[in-house]
Amino acid sequence: MEFKDVVRRRRMIRTYADQPVDPAIVDRALSNATRAPSAGFSQGWAFLLLDTAEDVRLFWASTTGAEDLAAPDTWLTGMMRAPVVIVPCSNKSAYLSRYAEPDKGWTDEDEARWPVPFWHMDAAMASLLILQTAVDAGLGACFFGVPPEHLPQLAEAFEIPAEFTPVGAITLGHRVEDVGAPGSPTRRPRLRLDEVVHRGRW
Ligand SMILES: Cc1cc2nc3c(=O)[nH]c(=O)nc-3n(C[C@H](O)[C@H](O)[C@H](O)COP(=O)(O)O)c2cc1C
Repeated sequence: MEFKDVVRRRRMIRTYADQPVDPAIVDRALSNATRAPSAGFSQGWAFLLLDTAEDVRLFWASTTGAEDLAAPDTWLTGMMRAPVVIVPCSNKSAYLSRYAEPDKGWTDEDEARWPVPFWHMDAAMASLLILQTAVDAGLGACFFGVPPEHLPQLAEAFEIPAEFTPVGAITLGHRVEDVGAPGSPTRRPRLRLDEVVHRGRW
């Protein structure tokens, strides 16, 4: 697929066909994720791959309240159909220690030196490559947030080490068009270029 088509066709898919995903595609998505840029080449990311029905069930059980799980809405019903869930995680400590190395020299490991949390940014860039790989392979994917109150349970269920923070999660599967929960783009327009680009001066 042409790159411009990958970019244009990508959108979040929130329901999936009852069809397994070729593990080679999942591997390609993860491999592509590691081609993302990272500050100081810190690569302070990690990806929890859940690709068995049991693990995917445990993911939803650990990130969803009991009431919602008992009566899933359209969003949850569609998302739970995805055969694969990837949890991209960021590792702040990898950045602090990387930037304390001689070529960077921030030996105080002071977080205030960072203009924004590059560890989350890099995990997000890697996540986009997973989403784009899905489109390129003719699959669908959706990046979504994990409610903060469920993060401890998620970490415990899958033994995620304390230094790794899930920045969200990605469902991956065969896309089912125009079914499932509609995304925000059905309710609000894409901003025009002249609304977001400031040429030369703001
Ligand atoms: C950081 C981030 C968090 C998001 N969280 C959710 C979420 O919790 N649930 C969801 O259904 N979609 C979520 N989305 C998807 C956005 O709603 C979606 O990207 C946006 O509406 C634009 O639609 P498109 O990606 O289909 O073009 C998230 C996207 C991003 C980048």
